[in-house]
Amino acid sequence: MSGRRACLSLLAGAALLPGVARAQERFSLFVGSPQFTVDRMIRMAQLRDDDVVVDLGSGDGRIVLTALKANPKVRGWGVDINPELVAEATANAREQGLAERAQFFHRNVFDADIGQATVITMWLFPELMRLLRPKLLAEARPGTRLVSNGFEMPGWEPDFTDTESGRVLVWIVPARVQGYWNWELPVTGSAQRYDALLEQRFQVAEGICRVGDRHGVFTDMKLRGEDLSFAMEITLDKVGLTRQEFSGKVRGDRIEGSVKVLYRDDPDYKTVTYPWRAARTPSTTYFRPTGLVK
Ligand SMILES: C[S@@+](CC[C@H](N)C(=O)[O-])C[C@H]1O[C@@H](n2cnc3c(N)ncnc32)[C@H](O)[C@@H]1O
Repeated sequence: MSGRRACLSLLAGAALLPGVARAQERFSLFVGSPQFTVDRMIRMAQLRDDDVVVDLGSGDGRIVLTALKANPKVRGWGVDINPELVAEATANAREQGLAERAQFFHRNVFDADIGQATVITMWLFPELMRLLRPKLLAEARPGTRLVSNGFEMPGWEPDFTDTESGRVLVWIVPARVQGYWNWELPVTGSAQRYDALLEQRFQVAEGICRVGDRHGVFTDMKLRGEDLSFAMEITLDKVGLTRQEFSGKVRGDRIEGSVKVLYRDDPDYKTVTYPWRAARTPSTTYFRPTGLVK
């Protein structure tokens, strides 16, 4: 019996062998993704020259090897819990002349060092995807594209889905923005302190802010990888109603970008763009008493 057929029958039998699967943390057995699905996964990953493509549960290596053939500058590697498949993938890389750019390791997906990956592909059962979710969010860099053949990441809406004959789902790992942030802007002619509170569930973020003794709500908040943007309409002393449109890149505990301020009550309808530099803070003055509104 060929390795492929043996694996197919193992997959069919997997549901009957939960004890074995649990003991080995082998939540899905090997069935290779059909080539047309692999091609769609690679297309949806939108490869760039400096990408590092990682397949978690790499089987015979076909996803990594297809990516490397699609772009001759891309590098990639895979991990699989089955050493025979690792050997097969390594031999395939050699046969296809890709050994210099592709590596395969005998490793549990939970131990894969994904910090340098920019594209992570998976065809793993949802249970394993759910177990991997915190690792992906904690260890993959913001902006990393996660591409799944068919299975979803329970609770986390994909950023893109292709439903043409079977699903391919893509998530963009979001930067971590949850928490307290502050910054200053000379919006009224003198520096105003902003105390912002951001909440986040995966790529969905919302926030509120205190500027002096005024409070505002962030609207239109978008978080894609490290790119964050939102707007706020707020009335400030001396200048009246303003609309403030923020956009920047989240880099760890800093955000750098710009804010366009539209002075709605200004007779010339003045618009000024300021640099925006925000820093994460362990505490906030958002909750400081404001007293009665004047
Ligand atoms: C359905 S196959 C997908 C193979 C390949 N990614 C593809 O799409 O063609 C799933 C693979 O994940 C591997 N696998 C399952 N659990 C794993 C684990 N905990 N760590 C590493 N590999 C695992 C299996 O050995 C199998 O090769």
